[in-house]
Amino acid sequence: MSAKLKLAVLISGSGTNLQAIIDSCKNNKIHAEIKIVISNKSSAYGLERAHQANIKTQIINYKNRDKNEVEQELIQIIDQEKIDLIVLAGFMKILSADFISHYPEKIINIHPSLLPAFPGIDAQTQAWEYGTKIAGCTVHFVDEGCDTGPIILQEHVIVDQNDTIDDLKSKILEKEHLILPKAIDLIASKKVAISGRKVKIHS
Ligand code: GRF
Repeated sequence: MSAKLKLAVLISGSGTNLQAIIDSCKNNKIHAEIKIVISNKSSAYGLERAHQANIKTQIINYKNRDKNEVEQELIQIIDQEKIDLIVLAGFMKILSADFISHYPEKIINIHPSLLPAFPGIDAQTQAWEYGTKIAGCTVHFVDEGCDTGPIILQEHVIVDQNDTIDDLKSKILEKEHLILPKAIDLIASKKVAISGRKVKIHS
């Protein structure tokens, strides 16, 4: 059995996607281990989830700091852990093109819409207000654009006409918790290959 994929998970908030990864690793559903959880917010509940799972945590302070300086610190922290894959799980900071190019094809993100529809923040509300009948979520590789990288997996939900925004958010979140660990496992199993805009998944 090959070595487990070493993950750094970046968060800013509640960390339910982080929890899904923690649980999947613990239950041996994915051949990966979280080496460190990094948050730009000391108040992020996801840090508590990491502590409860005995996972190393690090807070990275962006306030009143030069972005390049912050990212140099981030690179140092990540490279110290010899990370194979960086997972953005609700990380609300934009990473620079320099940072992204430092980790080619090694950063993935979970986004709560069926990209390329509704990139950016509050995607669930964008979809709800637009009146879409189908919504969903996407795991994609991170490139220099905003939620524009090659798509690995997507899952959809049906939008009921009586759904509130919160109903829709929780429907989508449930699917996020399925496809993010699955995408990580596919990468850990070396079943994912990027070909231009397309991501090929080998059975
Ligand atoms: C998720 O909806 C994710 O799609 C978005 O931020 C939210 C993070 O939620 N990028 P959580 O912190 O994982 O609960």
